[in-house]
Amino acid sequence: MWHNVQAAPADVILGLTEAFRADANPHKVNLGVGVYKDEVGLTPILQAVKEAEKILVAAEVSKNYLPIPGEVSFAVPVRELIFGAGHPALHEKRVVTAHTPGGTGALRVGAELLRKFLPKATVWISNPTWSNHKGIFAAFPQKEYPYYDPAHMGIDFPAMLETLNQVPAGDIVLLHACCHNPSGFDLQPQQWDELVAVAAARKWLPFVDFAYQGFAQGLADDRYAVAKLAETGLDMLVASSYSKNFGLYNERCGALSLVAPSEHEATVAMSHLKTVIRVLYSNPPAHGGLIVATILANQGLRALWEEEVAGMRRRIVEMRHLLVEGLKERGVSGDFSFITRQNGMFSYTGLSDRVVDWLRGEKHIYMVAGGRINLAGLTTKNIAYVCDSIRQALAG
Ligand SMILES: Cc1ncc(COP(=O)(O)O)c(C=O)c1O
Repeated sequence: MWHNVQAAPADVILGLTEAFRADANPHKVNLGVGVYKDEVGLTPILQAVKEAEKILVAAEVSKNYLPIPGEVSFAVPVRELIFGAGHPALHEKRVVTAHTPGGTGALRVGAELLRKFLPKATVWISNPTWSNHKGIFAAFPQKEYPYYDPAHMGIDFPAMLETLNQVPAGDIVLLHACCHNPSGFDLQPQQWDELVAVAAARKWLPFVDFAYQGFAQGLADDRYAVAKLAETGLDMLVASSYSKNFGLYNERCGALSLVAPSEHEATVAMSHLKTVIRVLYSNPPAHGGLIVATILANQGLRALWEEEVAGMRRRIVEMRHLLVEGLKERGVSGDFSFITRQNGMFSYTGLSDRVVDWLRGEKHIYMVAGGRINLAGLTTKNIAYVCDSIRQALAG
């Protein structure tokens, strides 16, 4: 069967990680990965997670299957985290939530559900977007809406809005709630307000990817777009991930929330979501969902977790400032201050592919082509080396 088949291309970012691992140079720096790293370069297990696991191991009596939409104690606190505990859509019971295998699982299940009910829809994705989005929505025709503007190092909001104003009713618009991957640039609240008004007027269906709650401004501030969109009464989907903000990468824990105009429609939507999940993976892995539910329900653990999320966010913001200051101190030409206006782990640095290749070949600093870096790969120990190397690359 495979004899005449060409091998599929390797995943670009995972390929970069393999090359980094194989590099024996002691100064090597990996700015390509998509995971949080602490000051010593580790992707840590959060203390709140360790504590929750102790509780869970002591209490666990069975490895029986979960229900199709996942852990029962998960949906309510997770919904409150996503939309805000007092959100009217929750009181009106217009939101249903399934616990899924990661944010990817949530997006994929959502795509499958939409394929059944909106088979003729086009999916609109930001230019650029997370590379996996295109594959996840492969069953749909896709179009791009303008987003990142390299000439001005920011979002071309007028162009974005103009395009979204022409999206037909019933098409699907994929939005990043915060910490846009890969650019790092997010809309301001008043821009979200304008976009929400366009969604409500045009009646396209927002599908919000919410993978980084807590990594931009804070757990509450980061839900601005999701909460506003859910107020409109539109049908809407939200795929959230607990890989980053709970550090549960390999436990595969996320959620798909369906927002509907009424309680009745939300109930019907959930019944169909269950049929989709049943044939895809039957029911999700339990451990990650139990950890999230345990932390969110326990006052002490929740406070500890919120402080740990704030700590990750503060470290990334500090690295952004140190990078900008380090480049300025070294007289590197160009204004890099836009890096401090971006959110989350990622930054489009504006470094050309020639510079990216040089930094990798000569300095063992690994970045994704296009100049996206993960700020969490920087530490107070390697930042001077990275700034010196960028200065040399741009001078040469
Ligand atoms: C924008 C975006 N969406 C979704 C995901 C998926 O997250 P998960 O690892 O939970 O599947 C990621 C992970 O990198 C992401 O960057």
